[in-house]
Amino acid sequence: MLMSHLSLMVFLSLAVFYVAAEQKTLVVMRVFSSRKNPQWYVDGVSRDELLRIAGPLYGKEEHKCNRQGSKLGYTGFNIIDSSNDECVYVVNSVEAESYLLSTYVKFMTVKNEDPNALNSVVEHVKTVISTGVQTELVPESPVYPAANEVIRGPDHVANYSPDTWNLNLKALLNNNCYNYGTDVRTDTFAQPGRGSGRMWSGSMNCTMLLDVCTRDGLIPLKSKQCPVEEQPKIGHYVSLVIWSGVDYHWYRKDAGGYWSHKPGIGNVTDIDASHNKILNPDKADITPYKEICGYFIVVPSKITIE
Ligand SMILES: *[C@@H]1O[C@H](CO)[C@@H](O)[C@H](O)[C@H]1NC(C)=O
Ligand SMILES: *[C@@H]1O[C@H](CO)[C@@H](O)[C@H](O)[C@H]1NC(C)=O
Repeated sequence: MLMSHLSLMVFLSLAVFYVAAEQKTLVVMRVFSSRKNPQWYVDGVSRDELLRIAGPLYGKEEHKCNRQGSKLGYTGFNIIDSSNDECVYVVNSVEAESYLLSTYVKFMTVKNEDPNALNSVVEHVKTVISTGVQTELVPESPVYPAANEVIRGPDHVANYSPDTWNLNLKALLNNNCYNYGTDVRTDTFAQPGRGSGRMWSGSMNCTMLLDVCTRDGLIPLKSKQCPVEEQPKIGHYVSLVIWSGVDYHWYRKDAGGYWSHKPGIGNVTDIDASHNKILNPDKADITPYKEICGYFIVVPSKITIE
């Protein structure tokens, strides 16, 4: 009797241990405009357990995981249960976000991330957490048929028409600032250099990006000055900016003379972080992407991006 009791207890505790070890929760930090957002597993913890550890939640809004406003930089975390893919969006909860940020630091430290880049991201996220995220979440929108092929914009300067991207969920979620800037929809979250055979790599700096974008077929302007007054004879202007060591971002100049952009999976917009229209990316509020790498002409039919 005693024996079987004991073995039952051993069996039960092993089973509990087994279940706990199986559980892991995927955390996604919503922060980048162009590259894939950082994501990592917190092992041995279920999503509900993680949410409990993380603390009281404000923005526990499941349906908003795939939605984002037109904002650059950090906008919260997604927490995804690996057993059923259910997702919770965590935002505007200092305690929960600070905890999740600490799991990011642990993960990146193990990965041997460049300490300057890591520090720059952590400081940015901390600042936003402490001031709160103004979430302008995109409401449900009609879904149009998916594109099966690359869709290229015209080889001349076009009018600002954000709804082509904003009202089509597939276009919205699968295209980034590089797709929008170049006006080539690939549905692949295109990366500089990948289309021409060697994707960007190493530390995020202007020299490396100028090189790979030129190989993709973008034509760099000699002058580092913003073309404020003019439009090119063929194609349209784009501007490449970076968050040094961390990420890049693009703006494109529309027929009206203003610049527009697409922050990550968010809506296309023609305003900057201070809600002003952009006449010159050099002078706009483009935090945290502060360094201008330069300007290019893009002829959509002539570039190869992927
Ligand atoms: C995104 O764009 C769509 C279409 O213009 C609009 O209905 C929606 O309100 C926009 N969302 C945000 C957060 O601006
Ligand atoms: C830019 O990054 C590349 C790739 O990591 C590196 O080889 C190069 O030295 C860097 N250049 C500058 C100026 O930091």
